[in-house]
Amino acid sequence: MRILGFESSCDETGVALVDASGTGTPRLLGHALYSQIEMHQAYGGVVPELASRDHIRRALPLADEVLTQAGLPLSAVDAVAYTRGPGLAGALLVGSGVACAMAFARGLPVLGVHHLEGHLLSPFLSADPPEFPFLALLVSGGHTQIMRVEGVGRYELLGETIDDAAGEAFDKSAKLLGLGYPGGPALSRAAQQGDPEAYRLPRPMLHSGDLDFSFAGLKTAVLTQVKRLAHASPQGPATPDLAKALSAQQIADVAACVQAAIVELLVKKSLKAMAQTGMRRLVVAGGVGANSLLREQLNAACQTKGFRVHYPELHLCTDNGAMIALAAGMRWQAGLWPAQDSRHDDRFDVKPRWPLADLVAQA
Ligand code: KG4
Ligand code: ZN
Repeated sequence: MRILGFESSCDETGVALVDASGTGTPRLLGHALYSQIEMHQAYGGVVPELASRDHIRRALPLADEVLTQAGLPLSAVDAVAYTRGPGLAGALLVGSGVACAMAFARGLPVLGVHHLEGHLLSPFLSADPPEFPFLALLVSGGHTQIMRVEGVGRYELLGETIDDAAGEAFDKSAKLLGLGYPGGPALSRAAQQGDPEAYRLPRPMLHSGDLDFSFAGLKTAVLTQVKRLAHASPQGPATPDLAKALSAQQIADVAACVQAAIVELLVKKSLKAMAQTGMRRLVVAGGVGANSLLREQLNAACQTKGFRVHYPELHLCTDNGAMIALAAGMRWQAGLWPAQDSRHDDRFDVKPRWPLADLVAQA
């Protein structure tokens, strides 16, 4: 059972082919990715219309590249999958349109995959794959969730952010510091030269007693700190670009403090969730899972407690087609693809807002 998967929810076009025959983890036969980062950089963030148009340009050439990598013709594809949501509506429609048209033209089954399920299952493609059940820390640009995962399609949400996502906190702080887009990698690079104790930033909801997060206050605290430093600088505040009044060291220090605050919140809440559920295995997924300080601190904390922790391969942390083809393959193996006849009204349908809980209800 070879499944061709398309990811186009935001600023990366990803295509991959997996072999989901048998019961073992689907095998990746090929995958290709085109990142739009350079195109959006000029605007300081993702421009949805430009993203959609670029997905149109990339999807089919990437599919050709994947088939070439796999050494297989299009006729060897048995089913097609695409990211149905959540994400940017126009961008999702491109992947959905291409995948559904391909499936329709060739009479193949097609499945719309939940983007977060893709992230959640992506560590199964790593050299050290997890086993069910596990606790998942899902940290991306749009979501921050702690989930109990019993199996494919069996997810229980235990906690989530009540405002910004962890990735958003990285991105917004990086923007304030003039570090550009995408903010996570840029901020974490700048932080390497900084002192994480130079300034005191809050740890919102650290002691809230639940497993929820809040990052909006952190962004405000960063703005206050940057304003304070800009006003005290010899050249005065260079409004509206406050960061221009800061020295490279001050920027590095603020970056290190923000990263330390976000990582402390993620690590402490994850460990609290492990203690509460009695789980002994943690899976970290989503773009922020690429952060090296987060990996370092989670590894150390989990080692102390005797927990196992699993990550996707670094290149599969951020958006990619492999995780979508994989999730489709694991759903196929679990018998979770809807019957063909009931799927017609799904075609070309996307869900820009799609809580993972809805997916569980369908499983
Ligand atoms: O999972 P992802 O590629 O897209 C979404 O589904 O949102 O995650 C993107 C997010 C962005 O906020 C980006 O800044 C963040 O992941 N990110 C990082 C790192 N690499 C990507 N954050 C911190 N450190 C990193 N190394
Ligand atoms: Zn994502």
